[in-house]
Amino acid sequence: MCGIVGYIGYREAYPILIKGLKRLEYRGYDSAGVALLNKDSNLSVYKSKGKVKNLEQYCEGKDISGTIGIAHTRWATHGEPNDVNAHPHYSQTENIALIHNGIIENYLTIKKLLIKEGYSFKSETDTEVLVQAIEYIKKRYNLSLFDAVKRTLRFVIGAYAIGVIERNNPDVLVAARKGSPLIVGVGEGEFFLGSDATPIIEYTSEVIYLNDEEVVKLERGHQPLIHTLKDIDVQHETSKIMLTLEDIEKGGYPHFMLKEIFEQSKSLTMCMNGRLNTELKEIKLSGVINHIDKFKKAKRILITACGTSWHAGLIGKYLIEEFCRIPVEVEVASEFRYRNPVINPGDILIPISQSGETADTLAAMDLAREKGAFIYGVCNVVGSSIARGTDSGTYTHAGPEIGVASTKAFTTQVTVLIMMALTIGRELKTLSEQRYKKIVTELTNINSKIEEIFTLNQEIETMASVFTYARNFMYLGRGYNYPVALEGALKLKEISYIHAEGYPAAEMKHGPIALIDEEMPVVVVTPKLRTYDKVVSNVQEIKARKGKIIAIVTKGDVDIKKMADFCIEIPDTEECLTPLLTVIPLQLLSYYVATKKGRNVDQPRNLAKSVTVE
Ligand code: G6P
Repeated sequence: MCGIVGYIGYREAYPILIKGLKRLEYRGYDSAGVALLNKDSNLSVYKSKGKVKNLEQYCEGKDISGTIGIAHTRWATHGEPNDVNAHPHYSQTENIALIHNGIIENYLTIKKLLIKEGYSFKSETDTEVLVQAIEYIKKRYNLSLFDAVKRTLRFVIGAYAIGVIERNNPDVLVAARKGSPLIVGVGEGEFFLGSDATPIIEYTSEVIYLNDEEVVKLERGHQPLIHTLKDIDVQHETSKIMLTLEDIEKGGYPHFMLKEIFEQSKSLTMCMNGRLNTELKEIKLSGVINHIDKFKKAKRILITACGTSWHAGLIGKYLIEEFCRIPVEVEVASEFRYRNPVINPGDILIPISQSGETADTLAAMDLAREKGAFIYGVCNVVGSSIARGTDSGTYTHAGPEIGVASTKAFTTQVTVLIMMALTIGRELKTLSEQRYKKIVTELTNINSKIEEIFTLNQEIETMASVFTYARNFMYLGRGYNYPVALEGALKLKEISYIHAEGYPAAEMKHGPIALIDEEMPVVVVTPKLRTYDKVVSNVQEIKARKGKIIAIVTKGDVDIKKMADFCIEIPDTEECLTPLLTVIPLQLLSYYVATKKGRNVDQPRNLAKSVTVE
């Protein structure tokens, strides 16, 4: 949510900043802007509503020289997306420019104080208040930029990742974070700032992860100087990032989303690599094994997450309860964190998050930790805030996910949860050795089955063109495939803007059946399951009301095939593994419906990839 990038070094900053913004555009694309200090130390700010390409057009013919600069791509919170509200924001004298990701919650109080001191404001943003406050404090106490930022942030309530530069101060870039992600890239004679590593990896793989309430001074010819807000000096080792450029480029696909859908067999391989021994048919999940006592003693497991990750969590409940016989509760993080949930010492909380930065999930995790829960994280982004705040965990290793609609993150999250449930169940002896081996054997074959589903790509594309007319869609599933129905509906909503509802199939007759007519496409996710026969009856009910049926079934299905208008046949597998297969046709269906409707699937309206504000 909002992307920030910064540079100080020996190269021209503008091309690095623009390229960085394009890499971060998945985080927000309401407006973009850049601030540069040229060779005379003059500070220029250029900003423009809309995408980064609009900013580039706006900058044509302007002075874009300078080896220090900051830039921002915005997902609007305070104030509509327009040129004025775009970042960077100037201070009153236009001597300081600042970019910000997050929300300053007490900005109105600070604004009133500043107005009394004669400050006036151009934008409706909380960010402008912050930059004005820094200028005020700097002047009033005669401080350096670094010290003024620290002092100002002491009375700021809220979340922020900021970058700040100052006219006539061309050798210093100051940055700080609390609750919003920020990474410092350390090169030879140059430094980079990024909301994530994607704008940095082309230049250096050495990074510093700042902690909350830390401020960094990046000064030419010096090592980074890091202080806490309370002026305590902090030393951080640099870490190595493993990303490659190939990981974050489209690689010949028209969209990141399609690339990421097709990457799923590779990302599952990465996810299982070193954990699933294909010869011995065994799983070794050290995060779980090292803390197996916690799992053995746990009376309850809580799972919290948002969006697609919450859907993976729902599947986690089915898995853990079936194989480990430990009660599991799953709740969206935004509800969990505010309702004073019962958490007892000894409970285990599993936060699930692709980005590891989702504000609500992070807050839910902090709350559970305070109340004594053991935190076991399932995250994709290495070094992210959630990953760093856990007691233990398992990375999903899906690789960078850039399309806003989550795809490979989901299947890797489910794979981690499968491996966890199998490991814990085996240790607890709630899962027989024979069944364990059978499922593990199936898991070793899952990638070839995913590849087989990709051969249906053309068929799914053709089917999608039939349904671009639809204004509503219904998705039905049961058991392990009920969360898949929710996920299929979410995918369609997110990128095609067609209203879609996911339902447990048998609940249909308690309301949604009233919506079914000859216009209504109903996607029924029903591979061979223990409840298959029940779903057959549901399909008959839809058919009787002339609904259009798209069925996801197991190869060789007879009953549903007879009734469905379209049938996608997936390879047979263990019931608990079916979500890894059934979700793929749903991802492709939503992708093709959206592209045929001319939607921007990688950057759908109003959405952001990483929701770092409440
Ligand atoms: C946003 C994204 C979703 C994602 C959700 C949770 O809404 O658009 O794709 O599922 O956040 O994100 P997380 O990074 O915590 O998994």
